[in-house]
Amino acid sequence: MVVLNTLEQLTKQLKKVRDQNYNIGFIPTMGALHPGHISLIHAAQQQQDITVCSIFVNPTQFNDLNDLLKYPRTIEADCKLLEEAGCDIVFIPEVSEIYSPEELLLKKNSLEDKSWAEGKTIDFGLLADVMEGAHRPGHFNGVAQVVSKLLKIVRPNKAYFGQKDFQQLAIIRSLVKQLNLPIQIIACPTIREPSGLAMSSRNERLSHKERTSAALLSEILFELKDLYLQKTIPELKLFVANKIMTDPMIELEYFEISDAETLQKITHFGLTKSAVACFAIKLGGIRLIDNIVLY
Ligand code: PAJ
Repeated sequence: MVVLNTLEQLTKQLKKVRDQNYNIGFIPTMGALHPGHISLIHAAQQQQDITVCSIFVNPTQFNDLNDLLKYPRTIEADCKLLEEAGCDIVFIPEVSEIYSPEELLLKKNSLEDKSWAEGKTIDFGLLADVMEGAHRPGHFNGVAQVVSKLLKIVRPNKAYFGQKDFQQLAIIRSLVKQLNLPIQIIACPTIREPSGLAMSSRNERLSHKERTSAALLSEILFELKDLYLQKTIPELKLFVANKIMTDPMIELEYFEISDAETLQKITHFGLTKSAVACFAIKLGGIRLIDNIVLY
């Protein structure tokens, strides 16, 4: 496995790969890797010749400075996991390698600055206005900014993203379409802990007691999957609200049942091809998200 820190090194290495006509699979991450991330590496390995992973804690997608500062950084352990998983190239750039000082300043002044789109009009429309977009202003602009840069640098055949971040996946599909990038986006299933809790780098910050509480989230999602055919959406929402209230440690930020394509709230089942139930909660100051595709 090769570990690279600069764009110059990465470009040189990728040129060698492309000269041999190898297919490239790419997995962008923010590190603090766990089996959820590693499942994306395995998916890429099965489908592609060369697997490239990036580790970059992207400052422009954090709307809470404290969250950025507390984001776990475990580069050594990450590299060990990637090596064991058979990753070929790891790209770990400094912030200055990805952003000019102007870009970082612009981001501060205008959360919706889209200078990274290089003149193209990128509009996520209603996709970015709901759920995470509504609760984390500017978050998806920051995600789109870094993912578009990374995709243009790596130019993979396929890029792999987790369904755990359902809305992010929809935004990235839209981004790739709007930028006309010849890259296939592959969605990978959510990997869970034995308790059902979706694996997340943020779980490491939960106390033992909070971790036990967090398992309620997936429990509710699995129950919804069994229940949804027998109940109306208002009944399901009440069911969820009542369940959440049984644990005073959990603060519900949102719970939505939405069209899985447009991500807009639905009022009853049947009119959409596919529906998804999505949550965001806070537990001991840590924000967790999860979702389940109902049909
Ligand atoms: P990060 O949270 O590190 O996640 C990197 C990738 O791993 C994302 O595609 C995410 O959906 C996936 N992932 C995380 N937990 C997972 C789980 N339990 N099961 C399956 N996949 C999982 O998402 C980001 O980083 C950033 O926003 C990024 C796309 C890298 C842009 O900065």
